[in-house]
Amino acid sequence: MNGNFRDPLGPASDGESVEGSPEGGAEREVGHLPVMVDEVLETLAANADSLQIDATLGGAGHAERILEASAPDGRLLGLDADGAAIARAHRRLARFGDRAVLRQTNFRELAQVAPEAGFGAVDGLLMDLGLSSYQLGDVGRGFGFRAGGRLDMRFDTSRGRPASDLLATLDAVELTALFRKYGEEPFAGRISRAIVVARSKAPIETAEQLAALVERSVPAPRARRIHPATRVFQALRIAVNDELGALEAGLAASLVLLRPGGRLVVLSYHSLEDRIVKRFIAAEQRGCVCPPRVPICVCGRRPRLRSLGRSRTPRAAEIQSNPRSRSARLRGAERVAA
Ligand SMILES: C[S@@+](CC[C@H](N)C(=O)[O-])C[C@H]1O[C@@H](n2cnc3c(N)ncnc32)[C@H](O)[C@@H]1O
Repeated sequence: MNGNFRDPLGPASDGESVEGSPEGGAEREVGHLPVMVDEVLETLAANADSLQIDATLGGAGHAERILEASAPDGRLLGLDADGAAIARAHRRLARFGDRAVLRQTNFRELAQVAPEAGFGAVDGLLMDLGLSSYQLGDVGRGFGFRAGGRLDMRFDTSRGRPASDLLATLDAVELTALFRKYGEEPFAGRISRAIVVARSKAPIETAEQLAALVERSVPAPRARRIHPATRVFQALRIAVNDELGALEAGLAASLVLLRPGGRLVVLSYHSLEDRIVKRFIAAEQRGCVCPPRVPICVCGRRPRLRSLGRSRTPRAAEIQSNPRSRSARLRGAERVAA
């Protein structure tokens, strides 16, 4: 087993679906229910008049609750790499007027974008990673197994290369490495070779084609908990969006942007993301990076974060009412004065 959480496709997926779609049925435009909202608000401690950043607006469910909690004068900077998410958030958050400032930006740019928008020292920063139900339900984006449209998978469709380009150009060795690194896929080699053979006959352009190809190239399991293509889809999405690189840059930016006492809250949905968050908080809590054999600290690094305790997962009732929340893991930390 690869150590991933139960649902490697993120909050919008149903990892136990065996029907060939993360939705477990026909993909459709569905609302996105914000995950662990009470726990997020409690950890952020977004009180009246505070300044907050939601780096992953999505359907703006968390953002709406944060703005309510920080009334009457609290302000929120909301980011999303996806223009459609920004347009939706504008509609949902319109009633907050200029208390909500929205930008279509990748959160890897946070350290530059936030000060420019007047959010250079904030009380809270939320990152709710992965993709939203809106993105998954949009068949033209290629996130879901049954998407008949182009296999794109970019959060920001105006930049970078779509997943279909990677499938068309990487050789079998590179594809294998990608599926292993970002999907922890045990049949990475077989799947890559099958892709190379298939694309020599016809290009692989749709999610549906890829899902069927993966399914044909791996042994049929005795019992399926997840669709056989789940890890391959996760790997492609992570690579296309450089999700782990963006996460590292966003976490580093939090150190610059949070004022002492400010809170960082991250919701992750698979072990690759969570490992980065956990190690980042642990390292910043430790401060000193001197090797253990050095008797006195010579690096001079001081702790910049204090962990807010063990990671948390959704309550059973939430998982029951929103099964997509089941793979979520929340971690929080507080910025400490230098
Ligand atoms: C799980 S959804 C967020 C849902 C949101 N919290 C809500 O309440 O509806 C994740 C969102 O983050 C966006 N996203 C993922 N990585 C990003 C990045 N590096 N920069 C900006 N947005 C990103 C995705 O486009 C998606 O809309």
